[in-house]
Amino acid sequence: MARPLPGPIPETYARDISRVLIESEAIQQRIREMGAQIAYDYGDLRPLFVGVLKGVLFFMADLLRAVHIPLEVDFMAISSYSPETREHGVVRITKDLETPLQGRHVIFVEDMIDTGLTLNYLLRLLQTRNPASLHVAVLFDKPSRRLVDIKPRYLGFRLPDLFVVGYGLDYREQYRNLPFVGVLKPEAL
Ligand code: IMP
Ligand code: MG
Repeated sequence: MARPLPGPIPETYARDISRVLIESEAIQQRIREMGAQIAYDYGDLRPLFVGVLKGVLFFMADLLRAVHIPLEVDFMAISSYSPETREHGVVRITKDLETPLQGRHVIFVEDMIDTGLTLNYLLRLLQTRNPASLHVAVLFDKPSRRLVDIKPRYLGFRLPDLFVVGYGLDYREQYRNLPFVGVLKPEAL
């Protein structure tokens, strides 16, 4: 019998999780470190944090509160042409940024890099808008699954090649509000 899951979480979710991979407090601690590093690196450059909805919502909210310098934030939304095959990372922009990137120091924030195809596509798109700089902050990285060479400047955790949920990451839109990152039981998939 696995030990009880930490924190008040929905009962049905608790039943579906086989184990916790990264505890909530470890996530928060790492984000505080990342935030301090970003604040140190950017100083008074007033960086623009850019995120893709919806997975990045939780990470973005916690990261921004850990970056103690003036900053701005904007979001975009995308839909993959084919969620099944992920069509070589080609995505459709369903909501674009409202902020012009020209001359801005942009930090692209992602919850997860898996194959890297989505991120690669979006970075190339944002680069065409002539930002002064463009770097990546990612919370979770599965390097063993990478198909394109992307090295995030700020990285939270390296993960093994496992499908995980929680802290923004979903399975069929569920589990995003779990405070930790966990692995689903096979029967929940
Ligand atoms: P990729 O890097 O183009 O393969 O796609 C990365 C995206 O796939 C992430 O932003 C997540 O939305 C999703 N993703 C990848 N791995 C997982 C996982 O283990 N759990 C939930 N979503 C995932
Ligand atoms: Mg997703």
